[in-house]
Amino acid sequence: MSSKKIEVPNHIAVVMDGNGRWAKQRGLPRTAGHEAGEKVLFELVEAAIKFGVKEMSAYAFSTENWKRSPEEVKFLMGYSRQSLRNRRDRLHDLGVKVQWVGRPQRLWKSVIEELQDAEELTEKNKKFTLNMCVNYGGRAEIIDAAAELARDVKRGKVKADSITEKTFEKYLYSPKMSDVDLFLRSSGEQRTSNFLPWQATYAEFVFMDVLWPDMNPDQLWKAIEEYSERDRRFGKA
Ligand code: FPP
Repeated sequence: MSSKKIEVPNHIAVVMDGNGRWAKQRGLPRTAGHEAGEKVLFELVEAAIKFGVKEMSAYAFSTENWKRSPEEVKFLMGYSRQSLRNRRDRLHDLGVKVQWVGRPQRLWKSVIEELQDAEELTEKNKKFTLNMCVNYGGRAEIIDAAAELARDVKRGKVKADSITEKTFEKYLYSPKMSDVDLFLRSSGEQRTSNFLPWQATYAEFVFMDVLWPDMNPDQLWKAIEEYSERDRRFGKA
């Protein structure tokens, strides 16, 4: 760790990639990789709180993940439900507000209920926000927002000529979500994969050559240090 003052990002988005490869390397089923990855997610939430981060968005299940085998989809649904139930009290004690960000269509009703229970329990917490992106797709989010906005224009609630970015943001799944500062992807892949395209427009991207289940608080801090060294100009000279 250098002695230079570190600029800690307010909002970190994480693409938790590499669970399958981590399991394969060990001769384990892919599901064992997701189990290990789940533990890492919550370990990093606790570390992020200690580092002074205020918000984290986790890409837990994308709208494209339905293309995986029925067994893996079933596992991910059941395991997400169980994870949310097991973790919510600890998250609540830590002052974490849990927010579900995603599309209801196709998502298991029992998973939605678990997400809503966690949201209800933690809704007044202010220390940290954890956006659980489940059945999330960036293009789907923008299309859903555009469709609802178009309906409101038709109803006469909004004038098409006065639509601004602020107007549009109100129609996103989670209008209160802040812009992403640090977009972190594990496993060496350098793609954004449809994650938070609207919110991560000015994010700094850090791609780590570490499989998600091998991530730890030191690795997270390394990513924060790399972020801190970037020169963010937001279009200014
Ligand atoms: C990507 O790795 C990982 C996922 C699609 C699932 C991530 C889910 C968790 C960590 C479980 C936590 C979820 C909740 C709701 C608490 P991959 O399977 O694409 O890995 P690979 O690229 O090595 O195959």
